[in-house]
Amino acid sequence: MPAPCKIGTLISGGGTNLQAIIDACEHGRIPAKIMFTGSDTPGVRGLDRAEKAGIDTFVVDYKQIISSCRAGGISPDNLPDDIPLAEVMDKQKLMDPEDERTRFFLQSRAIAEKQLLDKILPYDIDLLVLAGFMRVLTPYFIDRINTVPGQYRIMNIHPALLPAFPGTDGYGDTFRYGCKIGGCTVHFVDYGEDTGPIIGQKAFEIEDTDTLDDVKQKGLEKEWELYPACIEKFILQAPATPGA
Ligand code: GAR
Repeated sequence: MPAPCKIGTLISGGGTNLQAIIDACEHGRIPAKIMFTGSDTPGVRGLDRAEKAGIDTFVVDYKQIISSCRAGGISPDNLPDDIPLAEVMDKQKLMDPEDERTRFFLQSRAIAEKQLLDKILPYDIDLLVLAGFMRVLTPYFIDRINTVPGQYRIMNIHPALLPAFPGTDGYGDTFRYGCKIGGCTVHFVDYGEDTGPIIGQKAFEIEDTDTLDDVKQKGLEKEWELYPACIEKFILQAPATPGA
């Protein structure tokens, strides 16, 4: 039997998608093992879910890192040694390169991302799954996970039918627009915000009487089915390891 796919997970909150993936692994519905769960926020419920399942956990406290960058400024000594800043600026599609805040944004995120990489890389994972991770990733981080050209290895779940409603509030944007169909999307992560190749989508109907909470609940229930199915699709389509 082939070895299970080694998955890393990143979260920011409640972790109901993480739970769906834990359950799918534990019940053998996907041939994968979760190696760790990392969070950008301490104390979130998703960390408890991981610990209960016997999964290693860690926190890289983005809020604290960004505030200390704001308070103390960013000197070259604080930056990761291996950040090609000009190249990262050139590749990123998250912010306006002419905006003076872009440099601070990329540098402060790279400081946090270096801490993430120090935790993640020793696990030698096959796939990184963002399960409600509410931070964008810069090309500095992405290029250190996607080391084989043309092969994406980071997946994200987004609460809308992309390319509609990218950003931080997919269900809210869908609801406020008055859409009668909502949905969720699993996609690979590229240098833009929610712009990478789509792996799978699920849709649901929005009734005139539905509240935003109803939309979120309908959406989450679809997410819990969609994410494990997309991870399974990735595993089945993964190129064979040379010599395996
Ligand atoms: C989910 O609705 C997911 O689609 C969304 O956060 C929620 C996490 O819920 N992700 C994003 O908005 C990513 N930009 P969970 O913590 O219960 O899995």
